[in-house]
Amino acid sequence: MQPKIGVTIGGFEFETCIFNASGPKDETLPLLERIAKSKASAITMKSCTLEPRVGNPEPRYVDLPGKSSINSMGLPNLGYKEYIKFAKTLKKKYKKPVIASICGMSLQDNVTMFQAFNNSAADIIEFNPGSPNTIGKPIVGYDIGEMDRSLAKLTKICKKPLGVKLPPYFDFVHFEGMAKVLQKYPVEYVSCINAIGNALVIDPKKEQPVIKPKGGFGGLGGRFIKYTALANVRKFYELVGNRIKIVGVGGIFTGVDVFEFILAGATAVQLGTVYMQEGPKCFARIQMELVSYMKKRGYDSLEDFRGKLKTLD
Ligand code: DHB
Repeated sequence: MQPKIGVTIGGFEFETCIFNASGPKDETLPLLERIAKSKASAITMKSCTLEPRVGNPEPRYVDLPGKSSINSMGLPNLGYKEYIKFAKTLKKKYKKPVIASICGMSLQDNVTMFQAFNNSAADIIEFNPGSPNTIGKPIVGYDIGEMDRSLAKLTKICKKPLGVKLPPYFDFVHFEGMAKVLQKYPVEYVSCINAIGNALVIDPKKEQPVIKPKGGFGGLGGRFIKYTALANVRKFYELVGNRIKIVGVGGIFTGVDVFEFILAGATAVQLGTVYMQEGPKCFARIQMELVSYMKKRGYDSLEDFRGKLKTLD
């Protein structure tokens, strides 16, 4: 018997626990259809804003040695109205959950977009208060009071299952503060983690940063952030896992990585840098690797080991 790796999020059936993270190669309908045709179990769209944006000057994404990446894309997107249309097309043509990601420049922008997506074909809304790359804008996810005000307003409006993409936290006090806020609202899942913000990668021969925007400061992704991602998944699982699902994202490149995230408490995982570097075939490969690792360990389903990280005694 094949191990079962399907999950339910927001009442929607996901054929596997592996799908794409918002961000890489998901800005246009052709790119979204590539994800739809792959083994990704859902289609997550690029974070959108009220108005279309061209994003930051290039170079703004660079692969780093060690299966990692730095980016300062600056939210290039076609504006939310296009993603409402894309959701309709994707739902008509493919049988997968469609996730809209909303990243407004202000709470008022988010209110407008949440209202509009209520009447869209998107199945789930992912609120993204964590982009580190918008010039002149703070990471809202690091302001607990502002998160409280945003969620109070947005959860009143939102009629769809709501996910929240969180930036990485590094201090237990911050985890606890955010957990307290999240517990006040009907949040279906949190996605941990967004890129580690404002890293600086330097090319020593050119004596320059490798990306142009913000003097070279950008979000770190891939392998370099896997252990921070696992820690965030684990901590939020401990703090809110009894009522909020955790979606793991950050440095997942293999089926064993997925296994580790589920063990830490994740319900599902999203793939970012690996999808950017390997393309849509990464979903089938990582799915196969997860299944074969589960077989090797004698597990029939994800529930057999989800959250069951052992202690050293
Ligand atoms: C961008 C980067 C992010 O990490 C994010 O959450 C949203 C947008 C960007 O630069 O486009």
